[in-house]
Amino acid sequence: MASSGRPRVLEARPPAHVTPRGTLLLIHAFPANARLWEPQFALADEGWHVVAPHLRGFGDLDEGTPPDTRIDDYAADIEGLLRDLDVRQAVVGGLSMGGYTAFALYRRAPSLVRALILADTRAEADPPEARQNRLRLIEAARTGGVAAVADEMVPRLLGATTHARRPEVVARVRELIAESHPDAPIAALHAMMTRREATSLLGSVSVPTLVVVGDEDVLTPPALSEAMARGIPGAELVVVPGAGHYPNLEDPAAFNAAVAAFLGRL
Ligand code: MLT
Repeated sequence: MASSGRPRVLEARPPAHVTPRGTLLLIHAFPANARLWEPQFALADEGWHVVAPHLRGFGDLDEGTPPDTRIDDYAADIEGLLRDLDVRQAVVGGLSMGGYTAFALYRRAPSLVRALILADTRAEADPPEARQNRLRLIEAARTGGVAAVADEMVPRLLGATTHARRPEVVARVRELIAESHPDAPIAALHAMMTRREATSLLGSVSVPTLVVVGDEDVLTPPALSEAMARGIPGAELVVVPGAGHYPNLEDPAAFNAAVAAFLGRL
């Protein structure tokens, strides 16, 4: 049941006629999987080798992961993946839990990170009440499986506009959640509730950084992203209107335009 080692990846390579620009590694949010990034594979057309790993147990009905997983385990898996792929430096993007993992990767192997994209994430650790909520959701996941996690999370993951106007996005998120091993959300909840704070890291981030957030995100409200962007020297902030916690899926055109403009300036 234990899983570790090289994560499975989805990837898209630039077309033959486009000059390669480098690797864009995208780390998914909880409780989705690497398929969350499907709309971003179009960025391969700009010359990027887009690599999206499934974190342990996510997107995999067959292989679980131990309940004492840490964010640093995810970061170690990704560091190993980049080294296996012989990637010396990547632009590292993380959405929410993927952002926590991007911070952990930057802390353990800064030379691997060419630039950061921090989407709908936060630098703070969990306060006590958030830990209590995690423990409650772990219990719900133990008894009700990934369906219970979806019931709890989906109403808050997507913005009000998406819930009202894009039922296909809501359905897609439910599908993504259903694709995971039941161990995966339990392990991830443990990983998130034990993560280190990253606020003390912000001032020393020395790579170009893009902070993105949906303006209807209720899980990581825009004010947190504004503060995070202010804390990182030279960081840019883009707010995606009409999107919630998954702006890359809720408004791929706006999200990809922000990312492409940022990548174009590297
Ligand atoms: C996520 O989207 O990865 C999670 O909602 C983050 C969190 O719960 O802290």
